[in-house]
Amino acid sequence: MANINLTINNQKVTVPSGTTVLDAARLSGITIPTLCYLKEVNAMGDCRICMVEVEGRKNLVASCMAPVEEGMVVHTNTPAVRKSRQLTLELLLSDHDKKCLSCFKSTSCELQLLSQEYNVDEDYFPARQNKVPIDMSSPYIVRDNNKCILCRRCVTACEEMQSIGAIGMVDRGHETHITCAFNYELGDSNCVGCGQCVVVCPVGALSERNHVDDAWDALNDPTKRVVVFTAPSIRAQ
Ligand code: FES
Repeated sequence: MANINLTINNQKVTVPSGTTVLDAARLSGITIPTLCYLKEVNAMGDCRICMVEVEGRKNLVASCMAPVEEGMVVHTNTPAVRKSRQLTLELLLSDHDKKCLSCFKSTSCELQLLSQEYNVDEDYFPARQNKVPIDMSSPYIVRDNNKCILCRRCVTACEEMQSIGAIGMVDRGHETHITCAFNYELGDSNCVGCGQCVVVCPVGALSERNHVDDAWDALNDPTKRVVVFTAPSIRAQ
C-alpha cells in the first residue's frame, strides 16, 4: 500500500493511503476530540466535533471521515476550529439534560469533559428540551434519551458488533431519537441485555440497571416492582 505524506500542525507525517486525517493525527501523537467516532465501531461523521482546517479548502473538514491526501496541510487547533467545536458543544448542550452533578457518568462523560476543555458552560441556545420518559423496562439496561447526543454508537454496536439490531434512529429534526422497532420499550424488544451499547455510550444516556437502587425505591414506594434478574457483567473492551 502506498504511503502518503502530509503535514499536521507543522509536523511531517507519513501514513498508508486510506488512513483518515484523524488516525494520521493520532498516530503522530496529536489529539483531535471526537464524540461519535469509535475506531472499528462507528464512523458516521455525525457530531462534527472533530473538524479541522485543511489549507486550500474553504470549509472545515470532519477529520474522522476525511482520507489523507498527498501534500495535505492540516491544522487541528486554529481559532476557527476551536470556535466550531464550541458552537457544536453549545448546540449539543442546548438539548441535553444537564443534571451533571447527579449523573452517574459525571467526570467520565465525554461531553462534560469536552465542555470543560472548551469553556462551554452557558446556555447560549435556550432551545426546547425534549423531555421524554426514562425507559426502565429492561432488567439490564436503563435508557435516558434526555441525555442522548444521537452519536449512534449504541445503534452500530447493537447492529454491527452484536448483530442484534434492537435499536435504531427514528424521526427528523428535534424529534430525532433512538428507540426500538415500533417504538417498543427495551424490555419488550429483542434486546438481549449484552450491554455493549452501555460500554460505547459517550454520555449518561445508557447505564447498567442498578438493582440496589431499584430495591431501595421499592422500599420507599411499594407500588414499584423489584426486578429480580441479574445483569451480566459488562466490561469495556
Ligand atoms: Fe468526527 Fe463525530 S467524531 S464527526
